[in-house]
Amino acid sequence: MFLTDLLADKRILVTGGATGLGKAMARRFLDLGARVTLCGRREAVLQETKAEFDAAVGERTAVHACDLRDPEAVEAMVAAIWADQGGLDILVNNAAGNFIAKSETLSHRAFDAIMAVVLHGTGYVTLAAGKRWLAERRPASVLSIVTTYAWTGSPYVMPSAMAKAGVLAMTRSLAAEWGDRGIRLNAIAPGPFPTEGAWQRLVPNPDIEAAWKARIPLGRFGEHQELTDLAAYLVSDRSGFINGEVVTIDGGEWLKGAAEFALMEQLSDEEWAAMKGR
Ligand code: HXC
Repeated sequence: MFLTDLLADKRILVTGGATGLGKAMARRFLDLGARVTLCGRREAVLQETKAEFDAAVGERTAVHACDLRDPEAVEAMVAAIWADQGGLDILVNNAAGNFIAKSETLSHRAFDAIMAVVLHGTGYVTLAAGKRWLAERRPASVLSIVTTYAWTGSPYVMPSAMAKAGVLAMTRSLAAEWGDRGIRLNAIAPGPFPTEGAWQRLVPNPDIEAAWKARIPLGRFGEHQELTDLAAYLVSDRSGFINGEVVTIDGGEWLKGAAEFALMEQLSDEEWAAMKGR
């Protein structure tokens, strides 16, 4: 889909980049010539992913253990990236936390666990990198992974919906504020893209999984490469006039969920025939 030097020499930080969709995006960026830094909480998992990437593409991956909920740890990590690697060209806000729960059962600690990672953590990293880009007059690009329920909301994931809506507001706010200094911010709103971590938390049984798939117009979940292609384009200079945008990639799921007459798909041929001339 792309020339293999699309991201040549770009330095990219992917938060939550050692597992799941973050790992898939980081690998795609490497294949397109980038140097990547992965951050996550677990050093062993980071080292495992780095070893896998080094073996596949050569040593272009750095790792930082960092809990994004801690603003001082985030500042220290970003300072170290600037000191060790000369800075960043691209930030991908991918790290997230989520669980399915009846909202009335959530403690304030449960609420904070999600808000702290998704809303605050994303804000801390974006500000830490952004201040440096502005001071150095360096153009840059930020991509944040939100969800389609950032604008619709969703039952059973209220803290995640609140936090992702906030990340979307950050994207649009800073796109307008920092665009004149060459800093672009965009977002992707994915529907379901199976990963081990998310599926274990979000898919309680096979019946739910089948019903979920059935309500997506394209009849399937997303494939990682479909997301990583979009991410590579949006962070690259080739999308240089796209700023403050959010691109949905969900097979039409949320539109169908919202569409007034979507439930008519349950009608049989006989019932459709009977509808004629009513
Ligand atoms: C209710 C829960 C809970 C659950 C934890 N808690 N799990 N409450 N239902 N299922 C409560 C705990 O009881 C505790 O409150 C508080 O939350 C904090 O719990 P900890 O275990 O200490 O949490 P912590 O170690 O901070 O980790 C939470 C986390 C973690 C950050 C969310 O699960 C994590 O790292 N997740 C990352 C991976 C992930 O979530 N991926 C999915 C992203 S997918 P009390 O009061 O008991 O102390 C996504 C979009 C999906 O976001 C879109 C699909 C289309």
